[in-house]
Amino acid sequence: MDRYLVFGHPVRHSKSPFIHTLFARQTQQELEYGLAEPAVDEFAQALRTFFDQGGKGCNVTVPFKEQAFTLVDRLSPRAKRAGAVNTIKLTDDGVLLGDNTDGAGLVADLKSHGVTLADSRILLLGAGGAARGALAPLLAELPSELVIANRTHTKAQQLAAEFHDLGHVTAQTYEQLAGPFDLVINSTSASLQGELPPLAPALIHTDIAIYDMMYGASDTAFVGWAKQQGARQTMDGLGMLVEQAAEAFTVWRGIRPGTKQVLRELKRNLGVI
Ligand code: ATR
Repeated sequence: MDRYLVFGHPVRHSKSPFIHTLFARQTQQELEYGLAEPAVDEFAQALRTFFDQGGKGCNVTVPFKEQAFTLVDRLSPRAKRAGAVNTIKLTDDGVLLGDNTDGAGLVADLKSHGVTLADSRILLLGAGGAARGALAPLLAELPSELVIANRTHTKAQQLAAEFHDLGHVTAQTYEQLAGPFDLVINSTSASLQGELPPLAPALIHTDIAIYDMMYGASDTAFVGWAKQQGARQTMDGLGMLVEQAAEAFTVWRGIRPGTKQVLRELKRNLGVI
């Protein structure tokens, strides 16, 4: 049977095996999908061993995405732009192809929620790996402007300069930000510590769309805060998780699985519904 897995550390709580097992059942693909948690300095060896022993493909998550970028034979254009790899496929001619499906997953999830990206004014919070992965797919949707704000302003400036060729992207400090924005995407890891990015409440209005790339069984700190400020449309990163997985599954198997039912089952599994 074709073997796939996700590399991460820690990875025990990953939902990827659950999601890919449902995709395989739905599309009648014969495959198994497991977990691997190598020591942080043993990822390269573990990856090599997996493919030497017949593995067909893998996902890569924290903290190995940047290292995976350096270990594959070839990079997709979107992985090159992201500077990180979350999906690896062994091609029929024995090449390890590194791809990045995170940004495509975000855009697919935003669209599935009916969010219009074309001609919109987007505020992206954070300038780390998650922001970098999202930029090219977001700019490909032709927003009128994409503003990056980050606690460490120089990182936002660097990122804006790096993606300047793909659209109207600028960097502003949190204090400089002037609305109205149509969509705010939180790519910071602040919610992980139950913290909030220092965003002025006045930037949140009833018709704004709020997206937090983090997720949990209950509202993330950012989603909870945005609701308190009156935002009516709030989304967390659970849909992005399923959509990036669907994109990876499509890269591996050439068949695109449906995501709606799988997202519902995942929510049930997490106790969200
Ligand atoms: P990831 O790969 O998940 O993006 P990362 O590269 O470590 O992780 O980036 C984390 C991002 O969250 C950064 O933009 C970080 O801001 P700094 O560049 O100033 O460190 C941001 N971040 C983390 N905690 C934050 C907080 N409490 N408030 C605001 N931004 C925060």
